[in-house]
Amino acid sequence: MSHETLTQDHQRQPVTILGLGPMGQALAGALLQAGHSTTVWNRTPEKAEALVARGARRAQTPAEAVTASPLTIACVIDYDAVHTIVRPAAEELRGHTLVNLTADTPARARDTAAWAIGHGIDYLDGAIMTPTTTIGTDDALVLYSGPEAVFERHRSTLQNLGGRARFLGADPGRAAAHDVALLDLFWTSMSGLVHAFALARSEGIAAAELRPYVQGVVGLLPDIATEFADRIDKSRHVGDQSTILSAVAGIEHIIHAAEQRGLDTGVLYSARAIAQRAIDARHGEDGFSRLTETLSAPATAAS
Ligand SMILES: NC(=O)c1ccc[n+]([C@@H]2O[C@H](COP(=O)([O-])OP(=O)(O)OC[C@H]3O[C@@H](n4cnc5c(N)ncnc54)[C@H](OP(=O)(O)O)[C@@H]3O)[C@@H](O)[C@H]2O)c1
Repeated sequence: MSHETLTQDHQRQPVTILGLGPMGQALAGALLQAGHSTTVWNRTPEKAEALVARGARRAQTPAEAVTASPLTIACVIDYDAVHTIVRPAAEELRGHTLVNLTADTPARARDTAAWAIGHGIDYLDGAIMTPTTTIGTDDALVLYSGPEAVFERHRSTLQNLGGRARFLGADPGRAAAHDVALLDLFWTSMSGLVHAFALARSEGIAAAELRPYVQGVVGLLPDIATEFADRIDKSRHVGDQSTILSAVAGIEHIIHAAEQRGLDTGVLYSARAIAQRAIDARHGEDGFSRLTETLSAPATAAS
């Protein structure tokens, strides 16, 4: 058998998908599109119908589903659901690979990896960083961590879920750690975005009027992220362009303006409190990147 034929066969290894929410359906659809024999199972079986019409095989139980393929991908709402589904199928999973693309905390990823190892199951934990519409396209980004040999064994199949399958290392919590850090950025930014629009609206400014300037501010972030990453890794937080003292003065203006319009200021108070901790620890003349270290220190200690 030629190398090419071997590769093609491997790319088309049977795969099982547990969980058919929007993301599970997208994953199963991409595998079908790529020519994999795909077995699916979902708590609510009706959600499999469109996939069955496209050639997927519907299993009656998780145990039947995982028996059908050397590789099973779980993608459900949280790890409690994952455990509810896979624990009764542990014996059938023994000697197979379980890739868990459900989002949760790094600690839960590590615990699930330990459970899997204890049952003779090869386990990779993963995090999907892009929306359902990207799955199966070059725009998808899925992060993986766990045993590298397991990732390499299934790399070509996993690549069919989307253009960018990134392996991050042996610690099974590493993909989830990237996920929560990036979602931290996303949701605090989203919170700032809606607050900015609400503050503008309270001053009679339509969202469409503010939008171009919002995009200007958002456009500053890539360069700031690059600069901060360098400063944080070197622990060099020079306040050459702007200081924490100056930032706090700016945050206070926003708090006053928001309070005058009766808007919630909880997030702004939290932002100011963290900066104040750095000022109290005599870092007021440093740059804002210093707050990474302030946040990492216990709240009661001078940081
Ligand atoms: N949607 C996205 O764009 C996106 C992007 C990146 C990452 N993700 C991640 O992908 C994962 C799945 O997301 P999703 O969008 O497909 O929808 P979801 O609402 O997070 O999950 C729905 C799935 O979970 C199952 N489920 C919920 N509770 C269960 C339980 N107690 N026992 C068994 N199954 C249970 C549902 O089954 P039923 O159908 O029976 O209710 C369904 O299969 C999540 O971790 C999410 O964070 C999603």
